[in-house]
Amino acid sequence: MSVVKINVLTVPAEMREELERRFSGRAGMVESADGFEWFELLRPVDGTERYLVYTRWRSEEDFQKWQQSQEFARGHARAAADAQRAQGQGQGHGQGHGQGQGHGHGPAASGSEVWTFEVAESAAPKA
Ligand code: HEM
Repeated sequence: MSVVKINVLTVPAEMREELERRFSGRAGMVESADGFEWFELLRPVDGTERYLVYTRWRSEEDFQKWQQSQEFARGHARAAADAQRAQGQGQGHGQGHGQGQGHGHGPAASGSEVWTFEVAESAAPKA
């Protein structure tokens, strides 16, 4: 059964462009991760500040492996550097637990949290 992991990034209006630019220049490593099924960056158009980084995985284990991998660290190298800089300025909230995992307090995102779901039902258009 697939699992969906959504990283919810709080992005102030003035940082949206920067965040989107980063994702458009993203490392593109996740595509080769074992068990990876889908990724989408979802932009809020309802006046809220929360971007959703939607990812879907074959299993929880595959997601956990990716999160602990070099590929995750490389895909987040800039986010992690930003978070460290922010912490240096005394605005951070301590270390994330993953390798290279920023804590969402860098310049682009001012907060982050991960939502987890199992896919209970799904559908695609008929071919
Ligand atoms: C811990 C806080 C996190 C922050 C602040 C964050 C932020 C970012 C940012 C800014 C990028 C763009 C690349 C860059 O600038 O380095 C990125 C890439 C990405 N993030 Fe996160 N992220 C975090 C954790 C996560 C988690 C838990 C997931 C999974 C649900 C995730 C999924 C992704 C994916 C799939 C990419 C594209 C990587 C690639 O192309 O290989 N992120 N993230």
